[in-house]
Amino acid sequence: MLLRSLLILGLAILRGLAQNVDTDFFEARIRPVLASKCYQCHSSKLKAPMGGLTLDSREGIRKGGALGPSVVPGRPGEGHLLRALSYTDHRLQMPPTGKLPAEVVADFRRWIEAGAPDPRTATQAPTAALKGMPIEQGRTWWAFVPFQKQSRPGIDEFITTKLQAKGLAPSPPEDPRTLVRRAYVDLAGFKPSYEEVESFASSTDPHAYAALIDRLLASPQYGERWARHWLDVARFGEDNPTSEATNPPYPFAWRYRDWVIEALNRDIPYDQFIKLQLAADHMPAVARGDLRALGYLGTAPIYHKDQRLSAEVIGGFMTDDWDDRVDALTRGVLGLTVACARCHDHKFDPLSTKDYYALVGVFASTMRAERPLFDVDPGLEARYMWVQRRLFDLRYSINLMTSEASTVVSSKELVAKWKPELEALEREMKEHQERHPQLVRSLEKYWTFTRAPRTAQDRRNLPPNLA
Ligand code: HEC
Ligand code: HEC
Repeated sequence: MLLRSLLILGLAILRGLAQNVDTDFFEARIRPVLASKCYQCHSSKLKAPMGGLTLDSREGIRKGGALGPSVVPGRPGEGHLLRALSYTDHRLQMPPTGKLPAEVVADFRRWIEAGAPDPRTATQAPTAALKGMPIEQGRTWWAFVPFQKQSRPGIDEFITTKLQAKGLAPSPPEDPRTLVRRAYVDLAGFKPSYEEVESFASSTDPHAYAALIDRLLASPQYGERWARHWLDVARFGEDNPTSEATNPPYPFAWRYRDWVIEALNRDIPYDQFIKLQLAADHMPAVARGDLRALGYLGTAPIYHKDQRLSAEVIGGFMTDDWDDRVDALTRGVLGLTVACARCHDHKFDPLSTKDYYALVGVFASTMRAERPLFDVDPGLEARYMWVQRRLFDLRYSINLMTSEASTVVSSKELVAKWKPELEALEREMKEHQERHPQLVRSLEKYWTFTRAPRTAQDRRNLPPNLA
């Protein structure tokens, strides 16, 4: 596998996890709750569903039970389901065993507000039907058969044939002033100047159009314009979805953005473009500057994991982090939504939960780190990065556990246990500062920023585009 223990360049970014409320949202956030918390009493498979309500089909959830509609799309205030989940009315509280977490109730509210998208047509087949497609069968499935050269005519010919059949003629060629404007907007993202339009319109050179396209493809704006599309695929953003105090923005995200722009302008082959973004740190003879490509993974969301939460809750955050990597990678590069296999085998593709967790394993053994863009001894770099990260975590945790009321009973003992390690690492850090000032300075900027700049001095330490 390409990626293993990737150390990712200094940046990273969090896509707002604000997911669109669509049928994917239903599959990931609504259906699992209905299945695990409600079907036992509200399924069409029961002889007598409770309250006459079935929740395992779109029809059932909308129709409701004895009281009337349980979900009215777009109107969270009207159906009985949200009222039941909210536990605001003692006469109807669901599930009866206790209120679901506030985030889950909020998901239902958002889902209903967005029109309650629900792909279930009729009553669902039993879960046993969720057996995936075997890999051998997948090899011959149309979507996974490699492309082959076809002896069929090109797209233009298909279009012409249809036009002729309908007695239509193609549109006439555009006039040169419109053409030059379109070429500019399409390739460079802005309109040409008056002089550019006029010089193109008055040109008698038969190759003027080809020359225009070549010039635009060679312009730096070409990369800026088209990088935006790739950055959307890479869910690029410079800030974090949660609170700024615990998850500050990534000050070096722009380095990844610039790399994508440069890569397009350098016209590097697509395979190279993808490989560098996934594994530049594991590829031979990669220029230091190309480590910026790892921002594809480094810009991924990292949920804040408050040490006072239970291991189970923190574990849930970690699996959400990994899920994002799998989702971004498979949607972005493979054109497949593999992330559904987090909970069950895919029905129509050869994708199993086993494959999903194999891929998750790659990201679970990966960590984000800030790396300098000049050459340094790799042993020293690795050690320094580790000390820096560990110091941050220790200071943060000790501060948290001593300054705020803690829900962890053993916090005092933990702090006592961490103190000697903290002191040893602080001594080591001092040595690094004396012996490798360039390395320390280059990465210090990052840490200064992430600790939320407050003073004028802090701001002077920022990379220029953030100051
Ligand atoms: C242990 C059984 C049980 C579970 C689990 C359960 N319910 Fe109910 N539900 C009932 C019973 C019983 C009623 C009938 C009303 C009553 O007696 O309170 C009911 C009624 C309802 C009603 C009102 C229906 C009507 O029109 O009369 C709604 C809405 C509802 N449940 C939603 C849910 C949702 C959503 C879940 C899952 C989060 C859920 N229930 C889980 C037992 C259950
Ligand atoms: C968080 C866990 C989870 C995720 C993620 C998830 N599902 Fe599901 N899915 C379930 C559970 C649980 C069931 C069984 C519920 C039931 O019996 O209706 C289910 C059932 C289904 C079914 C009904 C299958 C049948 O035979 O009854 C389909 C279709 C489905 N999921 C599609 C998807 C798709 C597509 C995605 C990704 C966009 C997805 N699921 C993501 C948990 C999940």
